[in-house]
Amino acid sequence: MGKEEVIDSYEGNYNIAADLPVREDFTWKTIESHFSWSDTGKVNMVYESVDRHVADGYGEKIALHYFGEAEEYTLTYRELKEKSDLWATVLKNKGVKKGDFVFVFLEKHPDCHIAMLAAIKLGAIVGPLFEAFMEDAVKERIADCEGTYLIASPELIKRVPREELPSLQTVWITGEPEQCNGDEISLYAEARATQAEEGITEWVDLNHGLNIHYTSGSTGRPKGIIHAHRAMIQQYITGRWVLDLKDDDVYWCTAHPGWVTGTVYGVFAPLLNRATIVIHGGRFDADEWYSVLEKAGVTVWYSAPTAYRMLMAKGDEKLTNYDLSKIRHILSVGEPLNPEVIRWGIKTLSRRIHDTWWMTETGAQLIVNLPTERIVPGSMGKPFPGVEAVILDEAGKELLPGKVGHLALKANWPAIMREVWKDPAKYETYFPFEGWYVSGDLATMDENGYIFFQGRSDDMINSSGERIGPFEVESKLMEHPAVAEVGVIGKPDAVRGEIVKAFIVLKSGYETSEALLQELRQFVRKGLAAHASPKEIEFMEELPKTPISGKILRRELKAKELEKVGV
Ligand code: WTA
Repeated sequence: MGKEEVIDSYEGNYNIAADLPVREDFTWKTIESHFSWSDTGKVNMVYESVDRHVADGYGEKIALHYFGEAEEYTLTYRELKEKSDLWATVLKNKGVKKGDFVFVFLEKHPDCHIAMLAAIKLGAIVGPLFEAFMEDAVKERIADCEGTYLIASPELIKRVPREELPSLQTVWITGEPEQCNGDEISLYAEARATQAEEGITEWVDLNHGLNIHYTSGSTGRPKGIIHAHRAMIQQYITGRWVLDLKDDDVYWCTAHPGWVTGTVYGVFAPLLNRATIVIHGGRFDADEWYSVLEKAGVTVWYSAPTAYRMLMAKGDEKLTNYDLSKIRHILSVGEPLNPEVIRWGIKTLSRRIHDTWWMTETGAQLIVNLPTERIVPGSMGKPFPGVEAVILDEAGKELLPGKVGHLALKANWPAIMREVWKDPAKYETYFPFEGWYVSGDLATMDENGYIFFQGRSDDMINSSGERIGPFEVESKLMEHPAVAEVGVIGKPDAVRGEIVKAFIVLKSGYETSEALLQELRQFVRKGLAAHASPKEIEFMEELPKTPISGKILRRELKAKELEKVGV
């Protein structure tokens, strides 16, 4: 092996350096002293994220800065407290109480943040839904929880099949009464007619449910991962040390709260650290993004490799039209970060891009590149203080440096999932070896503790950092009258990491055609979500199957595909 490329850290006034004594004697317990509940015993994520800052005299600080298509505005911490109190009162008046599920189906917009905070204030478990979900995806999630409450926008409510969701009793629309249909309630009108209840915050236990995110694996339907309020311990300290958030930071996390990154590092971690959050609607667009970075004066930026690769592909000239000099810290998550992208960041923005690794199930970052440490391009970084990572073989034995195995973590960090909703057996599968959480990722570790991602041990697809279960896409395609058999895999892609590819055997009487191909893609796009729709479809005479059970061998399909692209 040649000499490892390393990139030294820049000079800077980093939180982790200032907190060095805490880091040296690190225990999660020590971090607890930051929270008001360590004195009062009264726990609620929203109190620590919002109300507390107002009580501490930071009410006039800007909490949210929204850049929409037609409008731009800010909300201070005081306004965020008042709004979330008010919306919590509206919710409570209709019966929302501790432990209830409240689904939130809203665009990237301050309303989404306020709705989530309002629900959590009441001790409810919030279920933010990704804004690109179509009917089936929405239905499946709400039905799985027998969800009673939903807050949706006038646009997104159109994708909620009410008639198929009998459990759903109360639906608030973030709009005016004339934008509501049937029994839908205008949240805006209701809020205007309501007086916020004093002391509405419901105090809960650290282990009380906080949020639910559905996530895909290689088999079965997406599973609901429930996190607890205790996650704030790790979400706060990773926000402080990894994101390096300070009081005067303007921070932009580009993920939607329907994904765990958008909730944990788009809502909780920045608010716990009293930063200003930038919210920008819509999907990726290079000019828009550069313009938001400039206009908002973003100082800390957290995004995904696909987005960085897309910006890179647009050419560096674009960048010269914008003043991005305020950006002082950049981070990445969700999929492997190519060394090339890190070099691009250094060349064009004079900043390193700091990779971070974690999962929906882990609830917060575990493997990170701290701002004070060297970066080894191609590596995801090293375990966060207090986190113990190892590479295990099939029998659970620790492997030596350089050997590929299962990335596993000592299961004792505060943000780890509390449960897999209604599926304790699934929860157990994450812990095949006493005390270790086994991630499903394959990795190597070098002598210095740097961890290198090598792939998944299962068939999960990761496209643009978004987790897609092949089973979900296959099930959708099977609903199409032309489809007899289908196998779905992730095919390597230079920009998106992987793309969804479907191999389809048609029923007799159907002919392969470009029109049918488009129709099948649309079928998934309309029914499930655009990101789950197969970018490629290959029609086959038959699919490889296991001899006895007749299960479709995705692995074989994938191996053939990898051969073709020369991986
Ligand atoms: C992958 C996202 C390589 C990994 C927070 C993991 C990564 C899955 C990285 C979790 C990274 C996440 N490098 N791969 N830095 N970060 N992954 O649940 O396969 O949407 O298991 O959580 O994304 O995806 P999830």
